[in-house]
Amino acid sequence: MPDKFYVTTPIYYVNDVPHIGHAYTTIAADTLARYHRLFGHAVFFLTGTDEHGQKVEKAALDRSLSPKAHADGMVDNFKRLWKKLDITNDAFIRTTDSEHVAVVQELLQQLYDKGQIERRTYNGWYCTPDERFWTEKEIVEGKCPDCGRPVEQISEDNYFFLMSRYQSQLIAHIEKDPGYIRPESRRNEVLGFLKTQALGDLCITRPKSRLAWGIEIPFDRQFVTYVWFDALVNYLSATRYLSPPAEGASDPSARQRFWWPADHHLVGKDILTTHSVYWTAMLMALGLPLPRNIFAHGWWTREGRKMSKSLGNVIDPNEVVDAYGADAFRYFVLREVTFGLDGDYSHEAFVTRFNTELANDLGNLLSRVLTMVRNYFSGAFPAPSSEQQSDRELRDIAAGLPRMIAGHLSALAFSRYLQDLWTLVSRANRYVEENAPWTLAKNKEMDRLGSVLYHLGECLRLIGLFIAPVMPATAQTIWDSLGIEKKFADVHFTAEAAWGGLQPGTTVRSGVQLFPRIEKPGGSQGSSRANADKQKKGKVNMEKTETAAQIPPAAAGMDLIGIDEFAKVDLRVGKITAAERVEKSDKLVRLQVDIGTETRQVVAGIGKSYGPEDLMGKTVVIVANLKPAKLMGVESQGMLLAASSGDALAVATFEREMKPGAKVK
Ligand code: MSP
Repeated sequence: MPDKFYVTTPIYYVNDVPHIGHAYTTIAADTLARYHRLFGHAVFFLTGTDEHGQKVEKAALDRSLSPKAHADGMVDNFKRLWKKLDITNDAFIRTTDSEHVAVVQELLQQLYDKGQIERRTYNGWYCTPDERFWTEKEIVEGKCPDCGRPVEQISEDNYFFLMSRYQSQLIAHIEKDPGYIRPESRRNEVLGFLKTQALGDLCITRPKSRLAWGIEIPFDRQFVTYVWFDALVNYLSATRYLSPPAEGASDPSARQRFWWPADHHLVGKDILTTHSVYWTAMLMALGLPLPRNIFAHGWWTREGRKMSKSLGNVIDPNEVVDAYGADAFRYFVLREVTFGLDGDYSHEAFVTRFNTELANDLGNLLSRVLTMVRNYFSGAFPAPSSEQQSDRELRDIAAGLPRMIAGHLSALAFSRYLQDLWTLVSRANRYVEENAPWTLAKNKEMDRLGSVLYHLGECLRLIGLFIAPVMPATAQTIWDSLGIEKKFADVHFTAEAAWGGLQPGTTVRSGVQLFPRIEKPGGSQGSSRANADKQKKGKVNMEKTETAAQIPPAAAGMDLIGIDEFAKVDLRVGKITAAERVEKSDKLVRLQVDIGTETRQVVAGIGKSYGPEDLMGKTVVIVANLKPAKLMGVESQGMLLAASSGDALAVATFEREMKPGAKVK
């Protein structure tokens, strides 16, 4: 692992307020930066805003402000959100910074002097909203092939960066270094494009008569710089004047040499070409080292639909964070979707992960352990005694995690990292059930009980360490509650990752409840205020949770059946692939249900509560060994489980996605 780590996000346009897409990349970059800092590496994490160009000029005009005044106001939206999301960027660049402007001009002059920029008359098509030129061949029925809006024919003088010269060099570099563009599918797309199409030269100016808001071209004051040329340079210019101080690197060029090249440029898939082709060619022409990696992540949709202002369905991270806290949001976006693929945000999916993985798996584990240490050992962790098989299993999982995390994070596989980490969380929960500390306490087996609680405390200490890059506040809360008097800012990952760091005798503190369950999913982005308050104040009775966990369910007063009788009912996970109403019945719906090995037709009496469109795609519980029966002449080959009370009816589903055919028991 390098001792220096430089990671960037795109710089965001100030024509709009931040949304989930911006937050996503910034959270990913923050996770990497925090992880490297835990190893004592010199870290430079850069984000910022892209403030020139037509889009920003237009947004300012709409508000009757000068572009700079407009940008000054918009920048705070980003800075405030980063603070709220616990983002630890080392610098925030604005392309209107005078130092950045000077670097752009210096590089333009250098390229011009080297004969890499030429003045030409351009005749062709221009898409104003996208600020892009297109050739006759590229446009589709008079429209921009990218955004579908009408293009204008223009003829004007401009300066061109001779990018076409770099076509074969670009191909060679991308082919030679498989890690340069990730993920693999995107790398192949870029290579495919470079190998099959002639690369044009890049128009890097706009006449001031058409666009005034940009960096002046140093060798021709009639023009301003194309916004992308200006923006991409931020990654380099920031190293000169915004990078953290580094030993022996005080003047701007030494700072640039120390920090450049970047280890990762994190970008969305839509801006991969500008980075992998334009930026790479610009660096080649300048004779500068290339970044180590450009990683293109996917796009978020909202409940299956594209997010847009006009649809009014854009996720505002501020709202989610206000309701459920920054860590839950950070966890969700990184866990839900494989970095590199498109993903979907829905309140339901958020609540499911929150309640199962954060509240149940993690929050409950912490509160149970703290309560038991308090109840059985007056709040001080006991020392472990002789080791048993289940103890060893916990230890083995914990021992394997640092390498796993290193591997996944160097591949930017955030979701896999959290998934693997949760094997320890789940194993620790199972360990509680297996070892039944409450029974040990009842039987006065205090030695074993002490050992069990020590192992659990140690697991929680490690879980705290391992989640720290993604959920920094939660990590600190876990350590504080365990009684560990260290701050993550001062610890070293390697030293802390070894088993046994929890000192016997450490006294637990009355902590907060992590992630109180979201009881009532409250519609759209869900702003359960009550929950937010609980979350912030942590005022949830932990003793209650523990008591509930200790008491076995009472079965008195019911007709009891044996397990073998229950086992006769073959319950299976089914996925509804088609649904329609049964003719002349307002109650019956005919469903096609995939149960893994086959598709069954099931007729269910749920039509008054569910329309076919509500049922499509739902994962349900099917009684698979029920004798077929005919309902209003339609054969039903099974039954679907649902609960009813008065008029209310609800189909039983699962808290997380399960494969059709899985046995329900
Ligand atoms: N200013 C340029 C970037 C210049 S970098 C030298 C820009 N800005 S942007 O504000 O429009 O977009 C910033 C990022 O947001 C892009 O990486 C884009 O992919 C990302 N996203 C915009 N909508 C998104 C989703 N719905 N989902 C995920 N990311 C998305 O482009």
